[in-house]
Amino acid sequence: MLHILGAHARELERRTGTRLELTGFASRTPARWSELGLDATKCSADPMDLARHPNVDILIEVMGGVETARNVVLEALASGKDVVTANKALLAEKGDEIFKASAENGRMIGFEASVCGGLPIIHLLKRSLAAERIQRIVAIVNGTCNYILTHMIADRRPFDEVLKEAQSLGYAEADPTLDINGGDSAHKLALLSMLGWGVRLDHAAIPTAGIEALPLVEVAYAAELKMVIKLLACARMEDDGRLALSVGPALVPAGSVIGQVHGAVNAVLVDGDHVGPIVMSGAGAGQMPTANAVVADLLDIARLRAAETGDAAGPTGFPESSRGQATLVPREEQVAANYLRITAMDVPGILAEAAGALAERGISIAQVHQHGRGMGGSVPVVILTHEAKQGDLDQAVRAIDAMPKIKDKTVVMRVVEEVP
Ligand SMILES: NC(=O)c1ccc[n+]([C@@H]2O[C@H](COP(=O)([O-])OP(=O)(O)OC[C@H]3O[C@@H](n4cnc5c(N)ncnc54)[C@H](OP(=O)(O)O)[C@@H]3O)[C@@H](O)[C@H]2O)c1
Repeated sequence: MLHILGAHARELERRTGTRLELTGFASRTPARWSELGLDATKCSADPMDLARHPNVDILIEVMGGVETARNVVLEALASGKDVVTANKALLAEKGDEIFKASAENGRMIGFEASVCGGLPIIHLLKRSLAAERIQRIVAIVNGTCNYILTHMIADRRPFDEVLKEAQSLGYAEADPTLDINGGDSAHKLALLSMLGWGVRLDHAAIPTAGIEALPLVEVAYAAELKMVIKLLACARMEDDGRLALSVGPALVPAGSVIGQVHGAVNAVLVDGDHVGPIVMSGAGAGQMPTANAVVADLLDIARLRAAETGDAAGPTGFPESSRGQATLVPREEQVAANYLRITAMDVPGILAEAAGALAERGISIAQVHQHGRGMGGSVPVVILTHEAKQGDLDQAVRAIDAMPKIKDKTVVMRVVEEVP
């Protein structure tokens, strides 16, 4: 970011009509200050110094974490500064408080870098699609998981092995928990939903599953169905005004645009009533794509600040006063097609019994694939269901897993076929 601000200074001035100047810098490691060639008198170990600094107009928060970042951002807004942040965890947890403070103080907050780093998805939702009634969002918002899944699929290597490789190549954090358990994707889905529908919502209420327990065999069975597994963040506005949100591994057609997003890449599909499906894909993280998004927000704010107009669109593209609480569709009521892998003893009749458990709950079967005898004499049966309520499916799966002929817990994943 400092590189962009330095190397492109003249171009940035030409674009904004304003000269951007680095007033201060905070990091707890003084060695870093000299490493970056910064004037030590402008540096501090305490970011609060910048939040209160009389000559800072715009504070950029890229420190991560929630509590300290929250205090710094709120202090900056209260001190008349505008804020740019890349921190999705902060906004997913404390967004209501921070957006309210930005409105009350008449200050702006830009957070393009917080969702999908280099992809201008926030701009797309907040400005370009402002006239659109968004119907659904289907997104790959975690590059670490997409890298892992891509290599599980391409190389048929198990999760643990690919995760270690991703860590050694810098595609996964030393502690990847929030990426692989779906939590990071839920943070981003909460933010995308706020922007898409002008609502408040608790990210913790999003039904969320990760990829950490995904058996490698699912990758092969998905391939037989001409599908691939992706960690998808999905949002759909129902006709009754409720939002159906979910994060979890899902099967998508291998030939679809979403199915062909490979490696540490993000993709967001937005489907609206006039424009139809739009897919944006590219670098969702990484130093320079993220820095680009931060600087773009900085420029926007610098322009609006110079014109003394403020951002009438508000942080999310909806005035804070108009953002009501979202009504979410509980997981049990969400409707989806599903992939089931049932592991049964090699004895006759299990298919009929499993089909019976599904039929009893009104769940119809789209495809059945019975495989040869696996390890320990068990027989895997793969079933694709038609759309059904998730609660009915959960009940059917519980009934199937309780059958004496069943050897292992049934694996369940959503199937999302209607992607371009
Ligand atoms: N990396 C990406 O590709 C990416 C993409 C999109 C969004 N983001 C978001 O950007 C934020 C930062 O991520 P990152 O990967 O760049 O993290 P990082 O490498 O750990 O950098 C954080 C920086 O903030 C400083 N810092 C942290 N706590 C501080 C404190 N209490 N006081 C002063 N300085 C502090 C750290 O320096 P010291 O340790 O020296 O204090 C470090 O320079 C996160 O919110 C992340 O979600 C990152």
